[in-house]
Amino acid sequence: METVKCIRERRSVRKFDTSREVSAELIESVIDTARFSPSWKNTQVTRYTVLTGESKNALAACTNVWAKNGDIMRSAPMVVALSVVDKRSGFERDGSFSTPLGNGWQMFDCGIAAQSFCLAAFDAGLSTLIMGLYDDNAAEVIGIPDGQILTALIAVGYADESPAAPSRKELTDLITYKN
Ligand SMILES: Cc1cc2nc3c(=O)[nH]c(=O)nc-3n(C[C@H](O)[C@H](O)[C@H](O)COP(=O)(O)O)c2cc1C
Repeated sequence: METVKCIRERRSVRKFDTSREVSAELIESVIDTARFSPSWKNTQVTRYTVLTGESKNALAACTNVWAKNGDIMRSAPMVVALSVVDKRSGFERDGSFSTPLGNGWQMFDCGIAAQSFCLAAFDAGLSTLIMGLYDDNAAEVIGIPDGQILTALIAVGYADESPAAPSRKELTDLITYKN
């Protein structure tokens, strides 16, 4: 798919076709593309935990902070948990921050990877929803290893809805020119 079309037409989907699984080969091809995302000094700190079946349903069952996200996880055949290896991206070897933005760069890197993931998934015919609202014990329920921070959950599957694009701000609200 053409890149601009992919960026413009990808939508967050909250209702999935429960009769269609996502194959291991397909999700691996999506992550294979996402790993080409840029990262701080090429530290490549983003990790992907692929949840299906019981492990996905266990996560859905403990998603109470925003219960709708739990329903979405149940309807999706797969949830991919994104985590980052802590204290690498944006950090010096002695553990100090490289810039005044502190530990923000690891989230920045993971955000880029998340967008690459969602675009690669869309290109492969899949739909996604990034979820930032999950309960405090989610990392433990998923089994995110020590030294990593859970950063986002992404529901993945085949869409059972075609949402319209939510409105976007005007360019004049976004761009400032200086010369
Ligand atoms: C960091 C982040 C966290 C989000 N968290 C949630 C969430 O917890 N639940 C949800 O339904 N949508 C969530 N969304 C989806 C946004 O609401 C959605 O991207 C936005 O409304 C624009 O719609 P679009 O993705 O179709 O362009 C999240 C998106 C991002 C980027």
